[in-house]
Amino acid sequence: EDGPKKRMREALDWACRLYHHILLNTDQGRDAFRYLQDRGVSMETIKEFRLGFAPSSGNVLLRFLRRKGFSEKLLEEAGLVSSSESDPPRFFDRFRGRVMFPIHDFQGRVIAFGGRVLGDGHPKYLNSPETPLFHKGQHLFNLHRARRAIRKAREVVLFEGYMDVITAWQSGIQTGVASLGTSLSEGQARVIRRCAENVVICYDADDAGQAAADRGLDLLKDQGCLVKVAQMPPGMDPDDFLRKRGAEAFREEILAEALPLPAFKLEYLKKDFNLQDEGERMKYLTRALDVISDLSLAIERDHYLRRLADEFRLSLDALKQEQQRIWRRKK
Ligand code: GTP
Ligand code: MN
Ligand code: MN
Ligand code: MN
Ligand code: MN
Repeated sequence: EDGPKKRMREALDWACRLYHHILLNTDQGRDAFRYLQDRGVSMETIKEFRLGFAPSSGNVLLRFLRRKGFSEKLLEEAGLVSSSESDPPRFFDRFRGRVMFPIHDFQGRVIAFGGRVLGDGHPKYLNSPETPLFHKGQHLFNLHRARRAIRKAREVVLFEGYMDVITAWQSGIQTGVASLGTSLSEGQARVIRRCAENVVICYDADDAGQAAADRGLDLLKDQGCLVKVAQMPPGMDPDDFLRKRGAEAFREEILAEALPLPAFKLEYLKKDFNLQDEGERMKYLTRALDVISDLSLAIERDHYLRRLADEFRLSLDALKQEQQRIWRRKK
């Protein structure tokens, strides 16, 4: 590995230590520490995830790393420091007034950070930019820590947020990872497939979360994963649920009840139609039969055709005929 990258790694590692130290041992970190306590994050978890705090003023990190001989240009390339447009540019800490979540590569080296504002504020999360070490589309939060548990369980739980992963971990669910702010990428899906065949997507109950689940599903399926989609109660994300209901309820009511891919697709499609209206109901059924036509196993197609027939009180024969017609047209 070339010199600049190695220096960047050193800078990121120092940043992680400094933010962690500030959170745990200084007055500047007190509010952030209380914030995490209020969210139920234990001391052990703070240490395990090396959570930190970036103070809002004083360019603490920049001054610290300058003293260690790092150039401003290198720190900017590492995504730790930003600069003004002026000539000459002024440099300042990129992360200010934020709880810091270190992001690691597969080997466990710090490559980036996510930073959350305390309370309300925009943007809620700020992530490191793309850097020579950090390619958002190829890394997953917590994968290096979860990889052994994932191999053992032969299953990954894919969350949306850092806090979902962290609360799950604290509750004894150690197979959780999260994509990084953006929705899942093809590269991330490939990385997941290398670790496990089974994936449970556990995104927020809101529209954004469900749309992201729908996209992630196809990417993971294309990589050869067996995917299920968990259904969170309205208005909750996994972090909320775990804190309110605990790990056992999460395992039994959420993970164990996750819908297989076709069942999720058939449910998710419904949001586009008013099923009380006969015309719309027929449109829905046509789309549903299209989903069923994509299933490669005849027994699977049969299973979902029967479910549709029951749900909409239609004859199985009629549905089968229609499904065959759709399938022939697609060929
Ligand atoms: P908490 O409010 O801390 O519980 O966060 P959350 O994870 O529940 O947030 P939300 O469901 O709104 O978003 C899920 C994930 O999307 C976050 O963990 C971030 O990775 C990402 N995200 C959310 N808001 C922003 C944002 O303003 N900017 C960026 N870049 N990413 C965001
Ligand atoms: Mn890389
Ligand atoms: Mn959300
Ligand atoms: Mn959320
Ligand atoms: Mn949340």
